[in-house]
This record gives sequence, structure tokens and C-alpha cells, in this order.
Amino acid sequence: MPYSVEVKNLTVKFDAFTAVDNISFAVNPGEIFGFLGANGAGKTTTIRVLCGLLIPTSGTVRVAGLNPEDGLQAIKAKVGYMSQKFTLYQDMTVEENLDFTAALHKIPRDVQLKRQAEWLEFIRFKESPQRLVRELSGGTKQEVSLVAALLHDPEIVFLDEPTAGVSPVFRARFWAIIQGLSQKGKTVFVTTHYMDEAEQCGRIALMRDGKIIAIGSPDELKKLAFTEPIYEITPKTNSRGWIEKLKQESSVEEVNPYGMRFHLVVKDAASWQATATKFSSDFDNQTIKPSLEDVFIRLVEGKKK
Ligand SMILES: Nc1ncnc2c1ncn2[C@@H]1O[C@H](COP(=O)(O)OP(=O)(O)OP(=O)(O)O)[C@@H](O)[C@H]1O
Ligand SMILES: [Mg+2]
Repeated sequence: MPYSVEVKNLTVKFDAFTAVDNISFAVNPGEIFGFLGANGAGKTTTIRVLCGLLIPTSGTVRVAGLNPEDGLQAIKAKVGYMSQKFTLYQDMTVEENLDFTAALHKIPRDVQLKRQAEWLEFIRFKESPQRLVRELSGGTKQEVSLVAALLHDPEIVFLDEPTAGVSPVFRARFWAIIQGLSQKGKTVFVTTHYMDEAEQCGRIALMRDGKIIAIGSPDELKKLAFTEPIYEITPKTNSRGWIEKLKQESSVEEVNPYGMRFHLVVKDAASWQATATKFSSDFDNQTIKPSLEDVFIRLVEGKKK
């Protein structure tokens, strides 16, 4: 089956600044593909190119079988876009916003009403469609934005930080919706800064300074980032004088704070055991399965650059 999204050697420059630096990747139909990276890594810029809104400096993109040369209208018909900036009209009702979106896409009235009812049901919308958008909770606003992005029945939806600033309950709700979209066969391209959300993606591309530094399933990225086991350290006292000493140990690669504990990357597990014994009055340690947060810290911010 052809890819939903295919990007080859994509580069985007703003004057002398390179925002996206020669990236290549492909997304399969129905996949939940996550885009992760620190602020300014180039995620939104890439999405804007894929939605046909920005002309790349070089490289090729194909989205739902279309090239930028096929024109913005053709691409818009196949692609839904929930931008990072909130785009619904706060002083219009839910219904008025959806009417407006339908008009933009020239969706016939009967088709619009049928789809709208289905998608509102799908997101379990419990408010009145006559309510002003500004009166809705932050989470519900995002869900209605998603309905607007889906109203023309696109093959692919680009969701740029759809859960930013949303409560944990709504984040979980939103991800259940994303899973549902994927089960319906939609391709979901999503950015997030939440690692628990990234864990739910089929595959993830990790971006840093405009480049993709790693790509794969959550498990694949964990294997890639860590060749040795990692350890969780639980301090035994309130003293933290041992941290700097620990960092000097030749068996230790990195020590990162993790809530009240620390996560430790070692150079090799065998020599770590002797080190751990030396520090046994300072902390307990146990091997843990790396989380995507560990992967992110290691690959995006850590020494393994
Ligand atoms: N129109 C523009 N003109 C100049 N620079 C831009 C423009 N758009 C984006 N940039 C720069 O390109 C870089 C990448 O921006 P982008 O918005 O793609 O990052 P991002 O990964 O989406 O970040 P965030 O997580 O904060 O949303 C940033 O340094 C940004 O300042
Ligand atoms: Mg962004």
C-alpha cells in the first residue's frame, strides 16, 4: 500500500536559519505517528509543509498521494489540520463554527449534518451545539476543533499539540479518540510534549534542531537509546552531596533527576555494581525499564547526541 505521507530530504530555511534540516521519513495509512522534540525543533514547520501551507526550500513531500504542485485545494480535501494555535471562533457557537468550516470546504448541507452528528457522537459531546465556544472547557474546545478538522472526512489528520494545556482526564479522553480514529483507518500525525502520550504512538520521530535524530516504535527507541540497563536511585537521606561524586565515577554515564529519585545511565552494568556498593549508605538502586522520558532526555538533551 502506498504511504500516507512520504518525505524525502526536506529542508526549510527562513532566510539564513534552517528550521528543518534534510529530514526523510514515511508514514503508513492508519498509523499513529508521533512527532517529538524540544520547542523550536521544527515540528510545526514540517506540518505546515505537509499541509501545503509552506513551500519547502528543497526536498519532496507526498501526502495522500499528492505533491504540492497538485495545489492547496486538492491537498486540503485530503488533509485535516488542527493547528497549534486555537482556530475556532470563541464568540460563535459550536454549530456556527462547524457551519463555517463546512462552508469553507463546500460540504453539502445534508452531508455536513450527518457527519457532524457522527463526529460529535464519536467525541461524546455532551454540551448543546448552541453554546458559545468560549464557554466550553479547554478539553472540550480541543475536541470540537478536532471535529472541525474531520468534517470534510480527510484521510490524514495533523494534530499539532492537541492536548497542550488540557487536564489529564481530557488528555486521556483525547487519546482514546485518537486511537478510535486510527481504528477507523485515518492516519494520525500528532505532536506532543507529553511522553505518556508518545507511548501510545505506533512510531515516533524524535527531532532536534531541525533534524530527525531517531525514528521507530517506542520499544525500538528504548533499545536504541540504551544498550545497558538503566537504574533508578532512591536516596536514603536528604543529603545530596553524593551526586557530584557519583557523576565522577568511571562506571557512570549520566545521572538525571526524576521526581524525588534519579535515573542513572551506566557505562557497563558489571562495573556499576562495585560503584553501587560504595554508595550503599547514600541510596538504593534497582534496574528499571526505560520510559520514553528517559529516551527523550538521553537523545534530545543528554550526552548521547
Ligand atoms: N515564519 C518563520 N520565520 C522565521 N523563523 C521561523 C518561522 N516559523 C518558525 N520559525 C523558527 O523555526 C524554528 C522551528 O519552529 P517550529 O514552530 O517548527 O518548532 P516546533 O518544533 O513546532 O516548536 P514548539 O514545540 O515550540 O511548537 C524555530 O526556531 C522558529 O522560531
Ligand atoms: Mg510547534
